[in-house]
Amino acid sequence: MGRKKVTILDLKRKKEKGEPITMLTAYDYPTGLLVDQAGIDIILVGDSLAMVVLGHENTVAVTMDEMLHHCKAVARGAKHPLLVGDMPFMSYQVDVKEAIRNAGRFLKEGGMDVVKLEGGRDMAPTVKAIVDAGIPVMGHIGLTPQTVSKLGGYRVQGKDVATAKALIDDALALEEAGVFSIILEAIPGPVAKLITERVSVPTIGIGAGPDCDGQVLVIHDLIGLFDRFVPKFVKQYANVFPLITEALEKYRDEVISGEFPGPEHGYPMSEEALQALLEELGE
Ligand code: KIV
Repeated sequence: MGRKKVTILDLKRKKEKGEPITMLTAYDYPTGLLVDQAGIDIILVGDSLAMVVLGHENTVAVTMDEMLHHCKAVARGAKHPLLVGDMPFMSYQVDVKEAIRNAGRFLKEGGMDVVKLEGGRDMAPTVKAIVDAGIPVMGHIGLTPQTVSKLGGYRVQGKDVATAKALIDDALALEEAGVFSIILEAIPGPVAKLITERVSVPTIGIGAGPDCDGQVLVIHDLIGLFDRFVPKFVKQYANVFPLITEALEKYRDEVISGEFPGPEHGYPMSEEALQALLEELGE
């Protein structure tokens, strides 16, 4: 039997049965295809593409049009996972109508199934409006990279009673607003566990310990394709950067030495045809 497309209901059932949910980012056709073939439940076309694919310092610079360009490519490669489009900075903060319109573009133009946006209680009315318009929303609390300047840097959130309590209130407000799932980023494991026990929707952790309903990582971190840093919560399952570097240097050396291309990489022409051509050219 062929694999079925993952739905929001499947995720809800997984939480109820205590089955872990798997999620990764992807940014283009090959990463979409690879993540799909690995049998991952959810693909996030994350705004992290600003950093790991486009080379920006942070996630703030990426635009709606850039996100949609990458979403379309992922959708061509990934047919089974639930596809989540990450709403970029300033595509949903200015006003609710604009937020709904931009969320709709991820489904209509980008080929995504649902959207994700950052923020807790402050974003609950916007989440509700997008959900009421018929677009499922995934929340994202804790370390929210789009507002990293406000948070004072990439640092763990919710370490004391007041901030941990605020995170729990954020999660409950998002659930009330209608999210189908919540990302918990860089928060202490015990706080993530308390949130996971208190909300009916699946929580997906990144740097939030083992007691979330699922886990997500940035694919470039997992395979070692990002050159600048590896966050503490990442486990690198491969390190492809040196492998690719080695292959590229070998290619360079073989072009210079004449070893590449060999006869097996070219298209032969019969001696007869070559002679006829030379005669035609008067040589
Ligand atoms: O953009 C992204 O990759 C994310 C994940 C870190 C959850 O938001």
